[in-house]
Amino acid sequence: MKKLIALSVALFSALTFSAHSATAEETPATGNAKILIAYYSYSGNTKEVAEAIHKITGGDLFEIKAEGSYPDEYRAMTQQAKKEISDNFRPKLTTSVADMAQYDTIFIGSPNWWGTITPQVSSFLESYDLSGKNIIPFITHGGGGVQNTVADLTKQCKGCKVNQNDWVGYGSRTFGITGWLEDLGFKK
Ligand SMILES: Cc1cc2nc3c(=O)[nH]c(=O)nc-3n(C[C@H](O)[C@H](O)[C@H](O)COP(=O)(O)O)c2cc1C
Repeated sequence: MKKLIALSVALFSALTFSAHSATAEETPATGNAKILIAYYSYSGNTKEVAEAIHKITGGDLFEIKAEGSYPDEYRAMTQQAKKEISDNFRPKLTTSVADMAQYDTIFIGSPNWWGTITPQVSSFLESYDLSGKNIIPFITHGGGGVQNTVADLTKQCKGCKVNQNDWVGYGSRTFGITGWLEDLGFKK
């Protein structure tokens, strides 16, 4: 019962406080900059959110893919992911952005894995010079909310201007995306 209550509270807060408010020092997103929406998705939720963002902002949609695979069995899969994260494993990427210099604004999407971003997203952040770029994180989760995802993404994105008005949504939820993007200065 206690577990059930804790889960309901986590879910409630995750759904209620999903889009954080912007603070004064944040970089405003520029409506007409060249935009990249880069994401990693294992089971499809983050991909759905990326596509919903893309529909409104336009720009280029990019799927982060990497070498390696995970077991089909869920527990074994999550244990492998846990080990990779604790080993700071950085898988070799198998997709690449041709000309990163053309983008001013980059949405970066990751599922929450064990409270942080996935190794594939870490590889992406460390493979490009993203310094000076406006980074807008979007995170999908299974009830834990943001946890350390955005903080870790911010640490790993060297010299980036990471907007703290991020998207943190349960599963493939896209309700609220239009308003969040409008707050950031994007309109269809
Ligand atoms: C390896 C693994 C670890 C996960 N860890 C967490 C977690 O710590 N907190 C959480 O809220 N959800 C966790 N989840 C759930 C995912 O964040 C959630 O299902 C997400 O939307 C999946 O995105 P995707 O479909 O794009 O892969 C985990 C899922 C996996 C596969």
